[in-house]
Amino acid sequence: MSAIFNFCAGPAMLPPAVMQKAQKELLNWNGLGISVMEISHRSKEFIALTEQAEANLRALMEIPSNYHVLFMHGGGRGQFSAVVNNFLGNNGKALYLVDGSWSKAAVEEAEKLAGKSNVDSIELVKEVNGLNQVVIPDLTQIDKDYRYVHYCPNETVDGIEIFDNINSPWPVIADMSSNILSRKIDVSQFGLIYAGAQKNIGPSGLSIVIVRDDMLALPSLPQSSIMDYRLAVENDSMYNTPPTFAWYLAAEVFAWLEQVGGVAEMEKLNIEKAKRLYECIDELDFYVSGVAKENRSRMNVTFQLTNPQLDSQFLAEAQAAGLVALKGHRSVGGMRASLYNAMPLAGVEALVGFMKTFAANNA
Ligand SMILES: Cc1ncc(COP(=O)(O)O)c(C=O)c1O
Repeated sequence: MSAIFNFCAGPAMLPPAVMQKAQKELLNWNGLGISVMEISHRSKEFIALTEQAEANLRALMEIPSNYHVLFMHGGGRGQFSAVVNNFLGNNGKALYLVDGSWSKAAVEEAEKLAGKSNVDSIELVKEVNGLNQVVIPDLTQIDKDYRYVHYCPNETVDGIEIFDNINSPWPVIADMSSNILSRKIDVSQFGLIYAGAQKNIGPSGLSIVIVRDDMLALPSLPQSSIMDYRLAVENDSMYNTPPTFAWYLAAEVFAWLEQVGGVAEMEKLNIEKAKRLYECIDELDFYVSGVAKENRSRMNVTFQLTNPQLDSQFLAEAQAAGLVALKGHRSVGGMRASLYNAMPLAGVEALVGFMKTFAANNA
């Protein structure tokens, strides 16, 4: 079978080297004669795995020592509710910045749990010269006391990324589900970072939480024990049985990242991949991007065919050429190519080659 390049937005492709290693040791992990799926999470072998995973993630992201790293259940949406339940007790209020559909969904969850009167939101995306652009107001001018400000630096559906840090008088919470580990970030600028694993880390269901120690002093709402950050910290993310196989694969992805040069190398590669694809979109009249250049996502490149009647033909021919999962999210249509860390440059080259040929054949 010739190479398949999988551009799915998530669950997304994982590094082939990791998948091959997992396949090889599926039935006999660590020389134990059984699978990592079949071993107690409290065994010394599994604990060693979790310690190595955390150490690797700390090194990759340069996480300061006053931050806890948690491996939790519930993916990205699980954290939409966890941040509210953990921090908005005693009528606390939060500010949500909205730059696309996931940050909007986070607002809806917050309103449901904390009540609308405790949740303020600001829409960041403005249409400037016909393109979607993020405009962040000066938060220091807002005369209100919030427990935190929440935003999503990479909107997976809309293809919008915010590259600058948010200048905020309140702790910043970021949903980095679709851009964690894709570029260097300064963790010390955040009160909490979370990410569903299924894009740059591993299988779905798992979520990574990086939380500053002092955040845990904020009062919580009544909540389920398994989503309580304090209990997760006290129990080394093992208050209940964790998703062990997902944790194992995440550990393998972190080790792979270290081997291939860490986040700095990934960032270089991700810049190059996105540049090649956006150049193709801009050069050919056949394709158009609706996002302002400064907010074009490196991870999720959204674009339209100028003649949408050709959409299904484009997708069918791409699929036949081994370029799969390019259909845009059902809420926005068009195309989306997700270029997470595991996508090699060769995948983008193949896509660009296909797009040029498709445009020439259908001009
Ligand atoms: C930015 C972002 N946040 C949250 C989610 C929701 O994640 P989950 O489906 O794991 O709940 C997604 C899913 O794609 C996402 O892209």
